[in-house]
Amino acid sequence: MSYRVIQWATGAMGKNCLRAIIDHPDLELAGLFVYSRAKAGRDAGEIARRDPTGVVATTDIEDILEKDADLVVHAARIQPPYAHHNQAICRLLASGKNLISINGHTYPQYWGRRYCDAFESACRAGNSTLFGTGLNPGFIVEKVAAVATGLCSRIDSIHISEVVECSMVQNPNYVFDVLGFGTPAGSIDPNAPDWAPAEILNGMYSEVVAHLVHRLGYSRARVETDHTMMPATADIEMAAGLIKKGTISHTNWRWHGLVDGKPLVTLSIAWIMEKAHLDNPNYNLWNVTISGLPCVRIAIDLDKPQDYPYRTGAEELALAASVVNSIPAVCKAPPGIMDIPVANHFRVRF
Ligand SMILES: NC(=O)c1ccc[n+]([C@@H]2O[C@H](COP(=O)([O-])OP(=O)(O)OC[C@H]3O[C@@H](n4cnc5c(N)ncnc54)[C@H](OP(=O)(O)O)[C@@H]3O)[C@@H](O)[C@H]2O)c1
Repeated sequence: MSYRVIQWATGAMGKNCLRAIIDHPDLELAGLFVYSRAKAGRDAGEIARRDPTGVVATTDIEDILEKDADLVVHAARIQPPYAHHNQAICRLLASGKNLISINGHTYPQYWGRRYCDAFESACRAGNSTLFGTGLNPGFIVEKVAAVATGLCSRIDSIHISEVVECSMVQNPNYVFDVLGFGTPAGSIDPNAPDWAPAEILNGMYSEVVAHLVHRLGYSRARVETDHTMMPATADIEMAAGLIKKGTISHTNWRWHGLVDGKPLVTLSIAWIMEKAHLDNPNYNLWNVTISGLPCVRIAIDLDKPQDYPYRTGAEELALAASVVNSIPAVCKAPPGIMDIPVANHFRVRF
């Protein structure tokens, strides 16, 4: 079985999805959307550092809508507000293409019927499916933590933590405007829902937490935030620019999924530019800790093979794999918003 796939955006994540599509024997690249004018008109193979593909990058959504394809991999940079990309996503769905988003959309049902209606009617119009995946969102909470609960006959609480060093992230818009680094620490309230980074990330990760609560059989989760931001201990020169002493260098985003007023699921994400504020400098990428009967602990790290010759990070490789491994299931799913299966495992051929 082979699938025709369009790649939407070629940032750090999107470029690896593009490579994974080009390299896969059962996928055919059917189109490429880019935001950068400098990339428009170039062959996808050149952008991906692969042989020419005959697919030329475009900045025009109309070119993409016209194409015959099974699926779009939507890997744009998230922008405020969280719903910023929904209109384009709905147009792509309505044009008959299934769509995988790496920017949330894992549990749009959290936002209520009216929010979902736009996606559902676009999917009906295009006989298409919307699916959100990735690492987080997409894997560690929705799949790993969910699978681990199968070992428990009682669950008191679930704590999932992620720690990522972000100093090599290159794009200033992403680092400063989307993730909030470099903001004078006392000038914002990170739990104010209208601070742009909080608005975007609350949008994406409330779905993640609520999805696990829902999967465990509780009908309605309420998600509360408990974010803390720490100031830089000195001026720090990062790939994306300067983080001045006293501005935010360590973000700890925390969401609690409450059941009966008590946190059942807590997701803690520490994205950091320096280690000064970490309790434990020897951290794992992810830890899942379930308190219950019995208690379960899982630590996960991602590494590249020692002989891997490229600079691409293990997270980027894993994200692209999680997208590609999902493609058959998304293309076979009935129209509408697709729920996250507990596994979209690797298969050597589709
Ligand atoms: N689910 C997960 O596990 C996971 C993990 C990591 C990241 N993400 C999400 O993936 C997104 C992309 O991450 P990344 O590391 O690839 O980011 P990035 O390197 O900053 O690149 C994102 C790409 O988005 C395009 N872009 C430029 N301006 C834009 C705009 N105004 N609006 C929308 N897109 C614009 C550009 O595409 P062109 O270069 O093609 O012009 C850019 O290269 C992030 O927003 C993040 O939320 C998800």
